[in-house]
Amino acid sequence: MRPLIRSACRLRARVRAMATLPAAAAFSPSSSAAARPPRIPLARFFLPSAPPPAALGARALRTSAAAAAAAVEVGGVKIAREDVVREEDPTNNVPDTIYSKIGLQLHRRDNHPLGILKNTIYDYFDKNFSGQFNKFDDLCPLVSVKQNFDDVLVPADHISRSYNDTYYVDVQTVLRCHTSAHQAELLRDGHTHFLVTGDVYRRDSIDSTHYPVFHQMEGFRVFSPDDWSGSGMDGTAYAAADLKKTLEGLAKHLFGAVEMRWVDTYFPFTNPSFELEIYFQDDWLEVLGCGVTEQEILKSNGRTDHVAWAFGLGLERLAMVLFDIPDIRLFWSNDQRFTSQFSEGKLGVKFKPFSKFPPCYKDMSFWINEEFTENNLCEVVRGIAGDLVEEVKLIDNFTNKKGLTSHCYRIAYRSMERSLTDEEINDMQWNVREEVKNKLKVELR
Ligand code: DAH
Repeated sequence: MRPLIRSACRLRARVRAMATLPAAAAFSPSSSAAARPPRIPLARFFLPSAPPPAALGARALRTSAAAAAAAVEVGGVKIAREDVVREEDPTNNVPDTIYSKIGLQLHRRDNHPLGILKNTIYDYFDKNFSGQFNKFDDLCPLVSVKQNFDDVLVPADHISRSYNDTYYVDVQTVLRCHTSAHQAELLRDGHTHFLVTGDVYRRDSIDSTHYPVFHQMEGFRVFSPDDWSGSGMDGTAYAAADLKKTLEGLAKHLFGAVEMRWVDTYFPFTNPSFELEIYFQDDWLEVLGCGVTEQEILKSNGRTDHVAWAFGLGLERLAMVLFDIPDIRLFWSNDQRFTSQFSEGKLGVKFKPFSKFPPCYKDMSFWINEEFTENNLCEVVRGIAGDLVEEVKLIDNFTNKKGLTSHCYRIAYRSMERSLTDEEINDMQWNVREEVKNKLKVELR
C-alpha cells in the first residue's frame, strides 16, 4: 500500500512526528462532488523508519515489457539499457517499462502541461529575483545512494530506502526518488540560488494519481549573515519568513487570489518544515513541502555560518489541478487529441476529455506470503498491461483460522485512447495471473 499522504488530514494524522512529503493533488475535470479530486499527494516521501533495503525478489519483478531503446541521452550523459536494467543482478529492480521513460523529459517540452507549468514557475522567479536563480532541468536521474539519501540526511533505516519503494540500479545507485538528491552537489559547486526540475522515480501502487515516474521541482536559496543582520531576526527566522513570502507569491502567481495556510510537518533535511495548502474547489490542497535547511547540509557543503531555505513541489499534482487533467497517465500520451490542447505559455487551459472509454474490471484473489507487497504486485501488472492498467485496488482482505491471509485485488483496465477488446483484456488478465503466481510465489485462489 502507498505509505504516505493521501489527504492532508490523513497525512498529518499519521506523520506528525516524522517526515513526509506531500506532493501534488489532482482534480478531475468535473467539479461535481462525485467526480471530485482524488486527493493526491505530491509525493509520498518520508514515512517513519522501516526495514532497510533487502534485495527482495528484485529479479522476479523484472517485467516482460518489450525491450526499450538501446541508449538515451540526458544532459550529455548517454544511458544505455544495460546501464540501468540488469536482469541477472539481484540488487537491480529496474524494469524495462521504467527504462523506457528515461530521457523523455516531459518537463522540457514547452507545449506540454508540465513544461508550461515549469516555465510559469521560472517566470515568477525571474521576475521577482531578477534572474538570480540558476535553473537545472537536465541533471542525470541516475544518482548515488549517497546523493539521494545520505547527503540530505535520510536516516539509514528509513522506508524510502527500501527496494520496495525505490528503483535500485545496484547497491550504490538509484533512479533518484526526489530532486532533493541534487542539493548537496549544487551547493558544493557554489550555487546559492537554484531551481532543479526533473523526472523522479518511485515504486508505488496504481491509480489515477500515481505513476512510477513523475516530475518535481526543487528550489533552494542560501543567505549569508549580512542578509539577516539588520533584520532583528536570527538567520532561521529570517529564512523562514522569506520562504513563506516567496512561496505565497508563487501560489498566487499560479492560482490567482487564493486562500492559503501553512502546516507544520517534518522532513529529514529541513527544520522547521512546512507544507503549503491552498483552498481550491472547496478543498484544502497540499501544494508543496519546504523548510529551513538543516545546518549539517550547509556545513558539509561549504556554507558554514549560512542559512538556506528549500522547497519541493510535484509538477503533475499541480498540473492536474491547473489544467483539469483527470488521469496521470495522460501526461505520457502522444495522442494528438491530448497533445494538441496545450500550447506554450498558456497555463490553465482546461483539458477537454476527448472520450471516456469504459473500464473493464477483473478480480483476482490469492493467499499472500511474507514477502508480498502491493508495490511488487503493481510492478508485475504494469509490466504486462503497461498504461492500460488504470487502478489496482485491494477490495478484500482476511486471515483464516490457519493464519493464511487472502487478498482480493480488483484491476481496472482502461485505455485513454480506444476501446479494449474482451480478448485482449482476457489475455492480459491471464498473463497477470500467471506472472503473479510465478514471480510473487503466491497461491491463486
Ligand atoms: N524531497 C521531498 C520529497 O520528495 C520534497 C521536499 C520537501 C523538498 C521539503 C524540499 C523540502 O527541498 O525542503 O518528498
